[in-house]
Amino acid sequence: MKTLLITGGAGYIGSHTCLNLLSNGNEIYILDSFVNSSPEVFEKIKLILKENNKFENVKLKIYKGSLKDEDLLNEIFSNASASGRPIEGVIHFASLKSVSESLLDPIKYWDENLVGTINLLKAMNKNNCKNIVFSSSATVYGIKPDGSALRESDQIKPTNPYGFTKSTIEIILLNLFSSCKEWKIINLRYFNPIGAHSSGLIGENPLNNPANIFPNICQVAAGIKPKLYIYGKDWLTKDGTCERDFVHVLDVAEAHILSINYLYKSSSQFLNINIGTGNPTSILELVKTFEKVNNLKISYEFVDRRPGDIYRSFADVGFAYEILNWKSSRNLKEMCVDGWKWQKNQM
Ligand SMILES: NC(=O)c1ccc[n+]([C@@H]2O[C@H](COP(=O)([O-])OP(=O)(O)OC[C@H]3O[C@@H](n4cnc5c(N)ncnc54)[C@H](O)[C@@H]3O)[C@@H](O)[C@H]2O)c1
Repeated sequence: MKTLLITGGAGYIGSHTCLNLLSNGNEIYILDSFVNSSPEVFEKIKLILKENNKFENVKLKIYKGSLKDEDLLNEIFSNASASGRPIEGVIHFASLKSVSESLLDPIKYWDENLVGTINLLKAMNKNNCKNIVFSSSATVYGIKPDGSALRESDQIKPTNPYGFTKSTIEIILLNLFSSCKEWKIINLRYFNPIGAHSSGLIGENPLNNPANIFPNICQVAAGIKPKLYIYGKDWLTKDGTCERDFVHVLDVAEAHILSINYLYKSSSQFLNINIGTGNPTSILELVKTFEKVNNLKISYEFVDRRPGDIYRSFADVGFAYEILNWKSSRNLKEMCVDGWKWQKNQM
């Protein structure tokens, strides 16, 4: 059992990962500003743990605050040390994540994502905690004209400020590793996490207008939005709509547990690992599967391509399997059923 700091632990991927960590008896400290989440998620997590007889001895401490508050970060590390169980590792989810917002307000993104991360790394260094799993993204990759699977060794060439904050943090982490101070680092480059916990109690809860496809499908199904816009129907893909690598959020959560355990056992490391299914799914395929498995209709309209969109993005997942022995186990149908169950619970 380990003691971990989870930044952004109230968010979408963070909450599913925290549930998994707590189910397995780990002690976790959460730092979250709740800028895109709500503390209520922890009541839901406790409920799921109770229902599964895993609630006894839950070790969870929640701090409301920003990564930009260096004193608070140090206080969390000090409190853990004072309790006799110092923080041994960090899973760093906290970040702003909207590509479109980052294009409109890049300074905000550099300030929150980069300054916040530097503060975190300073606090980790000061408190001699050098194991970190960082939430990176497939957005760090450049466009691959042949549309083949993206590999970790492919060119890093983001196209928007959000992506640049992620690729820059990867470089900072590489510098730390190269400084020979025994850092152990895994950057998980997620493709498109969707779905929710099968209880329907936790899921993606965007407080602002979501830009990604799956919450939009759910919101159209729920009648919150009148229709879904599909950008382009003449791409060079099987049905003309863009293709993405959708991966169940519970599979993504499991990759974090394997990553942190891998770091504990290994010597100084710096690894970039893709997290996806390895299968491209078109937007239309996703919509049709959602309709079929949930027995409903999604009103959608094709509109012009968006500037900057790429026609296909999917992961080569061989390295994740080789290093972590991880591969996704849940299919598109489960992603659609679980995601809709969560959305219905919000109505
Ligand atoms: N969801 C995706 O499709 C996706 C894909 C690739 C990468 N990622 C990355 O994964 C991570 C988690 O994504 P998510 O979908 O769970 O996002 P999310 O917005 O649901 O969760 C992020 C959490 O971080 C918190 N937060 C943001 N800025 C903070 C700050 N400065 N200090 C403290 N807390 C702060 C938010 O309140 C939220 O709870 C992010 O780093 C994101 O960039 C997500």
